[in-house]
Amino acid sequence: MAAKPKKPPVAVEKLTETQAKVELVRLALEIERHNEAYYNEDAPKISDAAYDELRKRSDAIEARFPGLVTRDSPSQKVGAAPTGRFAKVPHTVPMLSLGNAFSDEDVTDFVDRVRRFLKLGDDEIPAIVAEPKIDGLSLSLRYEDGELVRGATRGDGFTGEDVTANVRTISDIPHKLKGRNSPAVCEIRGEVYMLKEDFLALNKRQAEAEDTIFANPRNSAAGSLRQKDASITASRPLKFFAYAWGEMSAMPAKTQHGMIDWIGKAGFVTNPLTTLCHDVEGLLKFYRDIEQKRASLDYDIDGVVYKVDRLDWQERLGFVSRSPRWAIAHKFAAEQATTVLNDIEIQVGRTGALTPVAKLAPVTVGGVVVQNATLHNEDYIKGIGNDGQPIRDGVDIRVGDTVVVQRAGDVIPQIVSVVLDKRPKSAKPYQFPTVCPACGSHAVREEDPKSGRPDSVRRCTNTLACPAQAKERLKHFVARNAFDIDGLGDKQIEEFFTDGLVMSPADIFTLEKRDARAQKKLADREGYGTTSVRNLFAAIDARRSIALHRFIFGLGIRHIGEGNAKLLARHYGTVEDFRAAMIAAGEGEETEAYRDLNGIEGVGTVVANALVEFFKEPHSVKAMDDLLKEITVQPAEKAKTDSPIAGKTVVFTGSLEKFTRDEAKATAERLGAKAAGSVSKKTDYVVAGPGAGSKLADAEKLGVKVLTEDEWLALVGGS
Ligand code: IVH
Repeated sequence: MAAKPKKPPVAVEKLTETQAKVELVRLALEIERHNEAYYNEDAPKISDAAYDELRKRSDAIEARFPGLVTRDSPSQKVGAAPTGRFAKVPHTVPMLSLGNAFSDEDVTDFVDRVRRFLKLGDDEIPAIVAEPKIDGLSLSLRYEDGELVRGATRGDGFTGEDVTANVRTISDIPHKLKGRNSPAVCEIRGEVYMLKEDFLALNKRQAEAEDTIFANPRNSAAGSLRQKDASITASRPLKFFAYAWGEMSAMPAKTQHGMIDWIGKAGFVTNPLTTLCHDVEGLLKFYRDIEQKRASLDYDIDGVVYKVDRLDWQERLGFVSRSPRWAIAHKFAAEQATTVLNDIEIQVGRTGALTPVAKLAPVTVGGVVVQNATLHNEDYIKGIGNDGQPIRDGVDIRVGDTVVVQRAGDVIPQIVSVVLDKRPKSAKPYQFPTVCPACGSHAVREEDPKSGRPDSVRRCTNTLACPAQAKERLKHFVARNAFDIDGLGDKQIEEFFTDGLVMSPADIFTLEKRDARAQKKLADREGYGTTSVRNLFAAIDARRSIALHRFIFGLGIRHIGEGNAKLLARHYGTVEDFRAAMIAAGEGEETEAYRDLNGIEGVGTVVANALVEFFKEPHSVKAMDDLLKEITVQPAEKAKTDSPIAGKTVVFTGSLEKFTRDEAKATAERLGAKAAGSVSKKTDYVVAGPGAGSKLADAEKLGVKVLTEDEWLALVGGS
């Protein structure tokens, strides 16, 4: 059932005190729920604009009834309290939030407030630094005597989470400050974020491995930073802009821009668009310039930030509840638009997943024409989230509906709400197909082994013969991280598949031979010529020799992304051994082969079972063997199992002098060990160079064996 349209809220000026009290409690609960979803679950349930509306209303009610402000009021808090997964870190200087400006007038008011507070004369104009507001998550980095000792998230502003091991894997974050005169204690703050293109590529890899898909670059940065296993963070392309500081035992500059210059010299990346402005016109010009550039920037921003330049003035201005008086965020209008949902199209993916796509009446959202939006899955259309909880207030989406579209994090258009007033009487709840639109086979929702609930994805059961799946598998086979065949992309696969020229991977490698005998040559096809066909055959030939991990990834087995393919390649070494082991593992879970597979670090039961399923299917094995007749698979360098450190976990710390950290990690991995970022009970060795700090102390506390660089070299020597 669709929810009834909500009544518009009573104007703040008309509220009685009792009504105000009730509403403040309701708003506080609702804001808290959204804080939790945003900060702790990395899965916001409403748009930033809708969230800002809630806060604005709560602030406006409190402004009218100051006596109703309580300690639990959202205006007294920042973000959500830290989750229990990481150790807690108190911030000696709180990490506060920023007040918002939404209009030019709000900006003028801000500057006027600053001038009034400082009692500036008419001719005294406060210089103000303007910079983009990065849409990521804030981080505080503590350096003691120039060495990075701690990385912490904001948490609730007063206590954050210890993510030291994770931040050490981010290349924009120096482990040591540059220059000789760093203050003894120095906390640098800024934003962790992900480039838009890296976010899209990560989501593609995640989809291939059937892992979490992130809604936007911010969520993917937050999800990647807050990993218990730092090696996962290390594999994610996180970046960092430094723009502020916390505790400092000495101040290297007297102005905001002077501090930013110094932070840059100390080895951080600062935002190159940062500009020193001298009046409101300058600020507004900066805002409009950045708004224009927004779509073409490599990273997401959600506004700009203005900060009074003189630090002595910042100090005098101080803070009011949760935000500084000396700074303000000037937010961009949400990139939303209203349009009509003309149709819902079902696409069938490589693993048979039926994915609904909204076909919209074209509409411009933030300067880009949008005609398609993601609808994720069947439950999403019904108004149910992945966790079984209602989304969009439980309102379903129907063909014919007028919908509000938003470009989430600037990238993927999403439907944020349905305008129920405009729902046509004839609009019916959407019936998700239970048969595959491509082949007519049953499409089912398997049970999710983790939650016991039906999986959110409905899949076509005809894995082998479904033409849509076969075609998508071929697209995957030729993709960049698999066989990467130049001149053979999605478009060519579409054409060759439709014409029956390429129906399986092996067909790609017999194309030239078959073309020589064919009546109608490839070169005669529209859009082709002798040269392009010659180039295509050369590109195919160039891939007749292929690395084992690309081969395994190219097979398109469920749950086998690039990372798993590499693990398998390193474990089995050759395609012959891999093939034999997979077939043997199919004999049952008690077999040595199955146990060995399941025991590979990083391969769990889900992955092992997906492999076994694939190899149990004679048609898949035949398609693979046909391919193997045409190509040579290069062996991978096998992880050693007979080395003195095989299966051990090693942590490197301190400034290593005899080898680089990357070299040391590579050696460890080649010899079958795992290089970890932090010391725990599971650590076998800590290799400590000069200046080793907290990790060495942790090792000593836990009784973990500590090696010098020379002892490490002796241990692995000659291997
Ligand atoms: S300054 C005391 N500068 O916005 C204020 N914040 O709404 C210190 N943010 O928590 C923050 N870009 O996560 C500042 N250039 C920037 C920023 C920025 C993004 C975030 C930050 C902060 C939030 C406040």
